[in-house]
Amino acid sequence: MGISFKEVTHSFRGIKKKEIYTALENISLDIDEKNEFIAVVGKTGSGKSTMLKHMNGLYLPTAGNVCVFDSIITPNQRKNPKLKKVRKRVGYVFQFPEYQLFEETVLKDIMFAPINFGMKPEEAKAKAISVAKLLKIEKLLNKSPFNLSGGQMRKVAIAGILAYDPDILLLDEPTRGLDPLGAKEIMEIFYKIHKETGKTIIMITHDMNLVYQYATRVVVMKDAKITFDGKKEEVFGSNIYKDNNLAKPEILELIDYLNEKLHLNISYDTYTLDDLLVKLRNLKVGDSNE
Ligand SMILES: Nc1ncnc2c1ncn2[C@@H]1O[C@H](COP(=O)(O)OP(=O)(O)O)[C@@H](O)[C@H]1O
Ligand SMILES: [Mg+2]
Repeated sequence: MGISFKEVTHSFRGIKKKEIYTALENISLDIDEKNEFIAVVGKTGSGKSTMLKHMNGLYLPTAGNVCVFDSIITPNQRKNPKLKKVRKRVGYVFQFPEYQLFEETVLKDIMFAPINFGMKPEEAKAKAISVAKLLKIEKLLNKSPFNLSGGQMRKVAIAGILAYDPDILLLDEPTRGLDPLGAKEIMEIFYKIHKETGKTIIMITHDMNLVYQYATRVVVMKDAKITFDGKKEEVFGSNIYKDNNLAKPEILELIDYLNEKLHLNISYDTYTLDDLLVKLRNLKVGDSNE
């Protein structure tokens, strides 16, 4: 098992000490070490980021425990020596990660975390150059990270995580604030990594188009609890998405329209516009329902 939550609750103390706010309530969840692409969805404030922060030991549970690979994280263990290992194996790409850039050059910024996790400088440099190539930012390596466009800064921040080669990637709204092309570019890179290495990815997003295109499993959160955990086809092929105030992916809206107006029979195992075009091109006269 990669990550396992057992009845995890997390409460925050309010400004007044007596106030307590429960952001996660009795969450149990099992995630495989390999080949999962999970979308975590739900309203702002439902507990998504708090849940992800337990997956790499950034937050400790208030009750229950989280097992990450072979390390068990329980309440009140701030000085747990296993936490560093957990953080190395599970990389967290924060929301707006570019806010955390700070080094003089892009190269130094990408090398920072790998060195912090014990990699030798020469090795960290080689790794930084190889991830910069993957993200197509190798020309920026000697620039200051502060003289880049928003999309380039995002890529530099992501490169800094990929450079220490975590086994599992946590992505907190990775496309937020990017233009559509930038968003697509970044998603394609994560998807390529996922497909080629089998690394499990857990992604928070509000974009149901991304969910339907890339994820296989969907975890829906509401008021600190998980209200659904299962296949994306089940979420959008039933009323589950409506019951949880989620939008329907555009590709499915289009399929509904075609099926209804042209009396076609296109099934929901159609995840992208390209998939749909292939199906439409293969239609033969007489394929309609009429
Ligand atoms: N550091 C914190 N201190 C106090 N309350 C917090 C903190 N982080 C999050 N919360 C509260 O916990 C709830 C869940 O937050 P979060 O996990 O960030 O939700 P989401 O990512 O789904 O938008 C929210 O009501 C938020 O205000
Ligand atoms: Mg969040």
